Amino acid sequence: MEERSQWGTNIGFLFAAIGSAVGLGNIWRFPYVAYENGGGAFLIPYVVALFTAGIPILMLEFALGHHKVASAPKAFHQIDSKWEWLGWWAVTFVLFGISLYYIVIIGWCVNYMLFSLNLAWGDDPNAFFFTKFLKVPFDEALQAPANGQVWAMSGLRWTIAGAVALVWLTNWAIVYGGVQRGIERAAKVMMPLLFVITLAIIVWALFLPGAGKGVRHYVTPDFSKITDLKVWIGAYGQIFFSLSLGFGIMIAYSSYLSRDANIFRNSLIVGFSNSIYEVCAGFGVFSILGYMATQQDQEISDVVSSGIGLAFVAYPKAISLLPFGELFGFLFFLLLIIAGISSSISIIEAFTSAILDKFTLPRKKVITAICVLGFVGSLLFATNVGLLWLDIVDHFLNQYGLITVGIVEAFVVGWLYRTDKLKAHIVSNLGLSGTRHKIFDYVVLQLWMYCLRFVTPVALGIAIVHSLIQEFASPYEGYPVSGVIVLGVGWLLITHIFAFGLSGLPWRGETSR
Ligand code: TRP
Repeated sequence: MEERSQWGTNIGFLFAAIGSAVGLGNIWRFPYVAYENGGGAFLIPYVVALFTAGIPILMLEFALGHHKVASAPKAFHQIDSKWEWLGWWAVTFVLFGISLYYIVIIGWCVNYMLFSLNLAWGDDPNAFFFTKFLKVPFDEALQAPANGQVWAMSGLRWTIAGAVALVWLTNWAIVYGGVQRGIERAAKVMMPLLFVITLAIIVWALFLPGAGKGVRHYVTPDFSKITDLKVWIGAYGQIFFSLSLGFGIMIAYSSYLSRDANIFRNSLIVGFSNSIYEVCAGFGVFSILGYMATQQDQEISDVVSSGIGLAFVAYPKAISLLPFGELFGFLFFLLLIIAGISSSISIIEAFTSAILDKFTLPRKKVITAICVLGFVGSLLFATNVGLLWLDIVDHFLNQYGLITVGIVEAFVVGWLYRTDKLKAHIVSNLGLSGTRHKIFDYVVLQLWMYCLRFVTPVALGIAIVHSLIQEFASPYEGYPVSGVIVLGVGWLLITHIFAFGLSGLPWRGETSR
């Protein structure tokens, strides 16, 4: 039996946890989600979501992993073996779902980092991205991918597949080195680098002519949106994805902390760093859009494209206009690659940790097997219809997978396990005494318990019911029903069955259950 891994230092843990949280979700997802949901006004639901679900669930995951010294499946098994599947399901659909296409997007960034060097996208980055690079079925009239053609798979995109191989290899090399000598060491290089590049890009962007116009657009609140339920759901969804909640990652990461770690402080540091990072990244992104709008005499709303287009269509356009755009583009895509890899390694570790907790297997072989399987799985999204598949799978795993895990976590820990046991664990490590101890115990952490037991499940419950209603009203984004059912619902079901299967197997040392 191998000894359980440990972080070298608390700072190393913080770097790794922030590395997991800060990813593609912060740099290009957050800005357009904020923009679509009322700009500056989005910050209100966003902050509410951070305090009512983000930080409470993060603290729950950290406390659970640390208290039980266990990965997600083992931690839930210890609460009640009936709920072990939840831990398996989280790490399974994230690894064999989200990370498969997440790594493909990092692969696109690798290509685009190189394209930046000679502005390979020419003067029509939109057509370049969809028809030359992805070769996705294209609707000429809409100038957008033809969502109806989700089954028109015609082959692998080799440049993408090659980059994906490279990204999986890098992930493998980092995690293979172990928690301390692989992940922690890599995080200590990647995080400062990420910080420096981000700062350089933001400052560069803020000084461009027209930046103010973009920033104004970003921060000017559209309060009419705030009564729209969709905006609130967008905020909860963003917080979950961005903080890696419901992934099983934070549970595994905190299980490697030393016994005297301060869970409360760590939760606040990770939670706030992640949010501050994305709010700041938004300034950079919008300055660029403001610059582009000014240069082309357009309105911001004409240059902002939703979702994926933001990084791979709008940005290349801006890069072509910028003085030294080649360097800017190179740095921007490098930033996405670093942010992406420091996130993707975390799920490989979380899954490995779950396997090693349950079965007697050699760590390194498990990691190699995971990366080979993951690479093969990623290839599904490196075909010409990869973008369409990714869009559907992403929608379903985010809206239903992550949110369900969050609700069940809050329910299991809040009601079945009794949050006060975790609370006592957090309090015991705070190192406070006297009145301050009492304030934390009876006020701050009491509020946390209330949140988890009542507010979080209700808020997430409303989100999921609302999403379900929309699902039945019309198929997601005009995709064929077969695509939505097979790829979306199918992915949720198959990973679920797999998780049930794993949770039924005997624990090491047990002959049968
Ligand atoms: N929190 C990350 C982000 O904002 C997402 C993420 C973390 C992730 N770990 C991951 C995605 C592992 C896929 C696989 O981008």
